[in-house]
Amino acid sequence: MSLFKWIDIRTIGDERGQLCVIEQDKDLPFQVKRFYYLTNLDYETPRGFHAHRSLRQIAICIAGSCEMIFDDGNRKESIVMNSSSKGLLIEPYIWHEMHNFSKDCVFMVLASDYYNELDYIRDYSEFKGEGNA
Ligand code: TYD
Repeated sequence: MSLFKWIDIRTIGDERGQLCVIEQDKDLPFQVKRFYYLTNLDYETPRGFHAHRSLRQIAICIAGSCEMIFDDGNRKESIVMNSSSKGLLIEPYIWHEMHNFSKDCVFMVLASDYYNELDYIRDYSEFKGEGNA
């Protein structure tokens, strides 16, 4: 089974363009307390390189593209994110890395909790030990 789980984002398109909508309680598997987005990204500068202990997130590449790598400690998978109508679930204890950002990439994340550095595992060997003992 793939490590990648997607949420379909309702998209209403007409000749004026595309409208994507996400409603709390109807479309999401958790309550959103925070959202943030990455802009001005660089192809040569990957991001992420961490896992979370309890945070749940949904990442949406709302413009452009990038490559997402997931690693559950046993298996590593990679996928290109380039659709504004698909949200990728990032569950706890998934080591994730984002690479190869296009110039126009806008990467948005919905998160189940406020920012808390203590929830991060930023050391890969610590991740391997803690998440996959
Ligand atoms: P980080 O999560 O490491 O970014 P990425 O995974 O995209 O590489 O966050 C980068 C910095 O921003 C780090 O110092 C923590 C800070 N930060 C906040 O203060 N609040 C937030 O909500 C987030 C996501 C990060």
